[in-house]
Amino acid sequence: MNRLDRMIARLTTQRACLSAALALITDIPGPILEIGYGKGRSYDFLRHAAPSREIYAFDHDGVPRTSWGPDEDHFFAGDFRQAFGLVLERTGVRAVLAHCDIGSEDEARDAELARWMAGALPDLMATASIVVSDRELAIAGARSLNLPEDASDFPYFMVRLPAG
Ligand SMILES: C[S@@+](CC[C@H](N)C(=O)[O-])C[C@H]1O[C@@H](n2cnc3c(N)ncnc32)[C@H](O)[C@@H]1O
Repeated sequence: MNRLDRMIARLTTQRACLSAALALITDIPGPILEIGYGKGRSYDFLRHAAPSREIYAFDHDGVPRTSWGPDEDHFFAGDFRQAFGLVLERTGVRAVLAHCDIGSEDEARDAELARWMAGALPDLMATASIVVSDRELAIAGARSLNLPEDASDFPYFMVRLPAG
């Protein structure tokens, strides 16, 4: 597949999965974690689709300077592996949805990060919460969910954490 079509398939699938995940948590209160803020595209989608939710975003760089992005209370700058230790103290509550958009073109790096994420992320998540990810996360006890019908032909991953 050419790179343009690949990008379109990736983002179509990402948007479909995020919409499906939001529908699954409609009645469950709690914040969203956007892990891999990048240019804020999927953050902005979530912000519009779930305007009443608090969204906490994570990325290497400092707080993005936009009129619409997260403020400094809702942004964790630096490596995820350090930032995760600060999350519960600041949010005070576990998240109901995490979107991990963490991939790069370095497969070995991504695999190592996904291994770490699968172990560390559940500590930040509520029971029966949803994780949507661009890399497969082998989270202990999590149940894989089918991707929605409007997803494109691109690998993306949705799981539900154990109910408690
Ligand atoms: C695919 S991009 C995210 C795209 C974003 N969701 C969007 O819609 O614009 C992945 C992001 O993850 C960030 N990232 C990857 N590994 C990281 C790490 N260990 N700590 C902090 N940020 C990391 C990169 O800086 C990059 O911005």
